[in-house]
Parts: sequence; C-alpha cells; structure tokens
Amino acid sequence: MIRFIALLTALFSVFTINTANITDQMSPDGYLMLVNRQYRLPAVYEPADLVKPKVLHTSSQILMRKDAAVALELLFAAAKEEAGLKLYAHSGYRSYSTQQAIYQRKINEVKNIEKARLLVADPGASEHQLGLAMDVKASPNGKLNAAFGKTKEGIWLAENAHRFGFIIRYKEEWTEITGYAYEPWHIRYVGPEHAAIIHELDIPFEEYIESLRLMYLGENTEESAK
Ligand code: DAL
Ligand code: ZN
Repeated sequence: MIRFIALLTALFSVFTINTANITDQMSPDGYLMLVNRQYRLPAVYEPADLVKPKVLHTSSQILMRKDAAVALELLFAAAKEEAGLKLYAHSGYRSYSTQQAIYQRKINEVKNIEKARLLVADPGASEHQLGLAMDVKASPNGKLNAAFGKTKEGIWLAENAHRFGFIIRYKEEWTEITGYAYEPWHIRYVGPEHAAIIHELDIPFEEYIESLRLMYLGENTEESAK
C-alpha cells in the first residue's frame, strides 16, 4: 500500500482532488463508499436520489443515483458517437431484498455456496445497493460473461469508462482482493477525478480506498482486511 502513497499524492494535485471532506465522500451519500463482503450496507439503506437513466436497456431495473445516471447517459452516448457502439444497461440499483433473491437464485443454480458467493454478492455486500453500479450488455440478447470483455463494446468500456467517472470494478486478476469473480460488464461510479486516478494506477477499489484511509484518516486497515 505504501508504494502508492507518493504516486497518489502527486496524482491528487494533478487531478485537483478535493480531500477535505473525504469521510463524507466515503459515506453512503458520497461516491467513494467501499462495499464488499467486509464492508456491508444495512438492509434499510436506499439512496434518496435514484432516477432512471435515459439509455438503451434490456431490463427495467436500471435505476441509479442521479449523478451516476447522467454520467451513464454521457458514457453510452460517447460509445455511440466515438466508436459506433451501442451499450445496453441491464441491472442498476438493487434493494437488499432484491439482492437476496438474486443471491438465492444463484445458489439454487450452481448448488454450491462458495461458487455462488464469487458470482453474486450476498445481501448487504453488493454495491448495486448503492445505486452506483450498472451491469452493461453489448446487445439486447448479450450475456453477462467473461466473453463480454473481449467484445468491441467491452474493450471500449474498459478503455473509456473512467472518462465519465466509472471504474471496471472486478478485473480477473483482482478476485482475491475484491472477493468476486471477473465481471468486465460491471461498472461502478466514483466520479471522474477518482476514476481517472484508479484507471491510471490500475488498482482495485479496495486498495485505492485503503490508501485514502491511510493518507487522510491515518487508518491502516491492511491487517484487518485479511
Ligand atoms: N455480481 C456482483 C458482485 C454483485 O452481486 O454485486
Ligand atoms: Zn454488477
């Protein structure tokens, strides 16, 4: 972690990151809240500013928090204008109970809890509940699988999502750290400045947040994360 600190300090001045209210930014109302199996959301948490982005979609479950929804519209428009690619929103905000149902369905499907937990977060451990995540498809019948990462749409998304404030949250090589399998289709809104830095450093969100906590709050969570 220490290795990132000097680099991060430099990047923060270049990208004029506001770190004055970093605790607020890492709270559920900010855009930097880390949610995973270690850092969970309460069942009652629901964002106050959910809206439906005006984008092509393959399901009606595509609510996002307002800023993330606007950013998604700009991202999808840029894919079309710059690369002639159509992206489809498939799954955005999920309530705790919706996540519970999806998790249970996955357990029934794969008949192995450990395998299911790699693919679908148990309730409280999904950043879909934050209203800041979206699963993206390359076509109306597209699949959410590893092959998406090799499609023109998946490649474009990985190269450009950060410009609009999104990160590719679950890269193949990060499973040990994130706790979840490769998901090239799952993007997470963090805001354009932080997304640019995370993209540049090519690190999991867990490591980024750990660095911020160390730098600005004096917290070393490295041990407790193990
Ligand atoms: N598939 C991701 C990990 C989720 O369920 O939030
Ligand atoms: Zn997802």
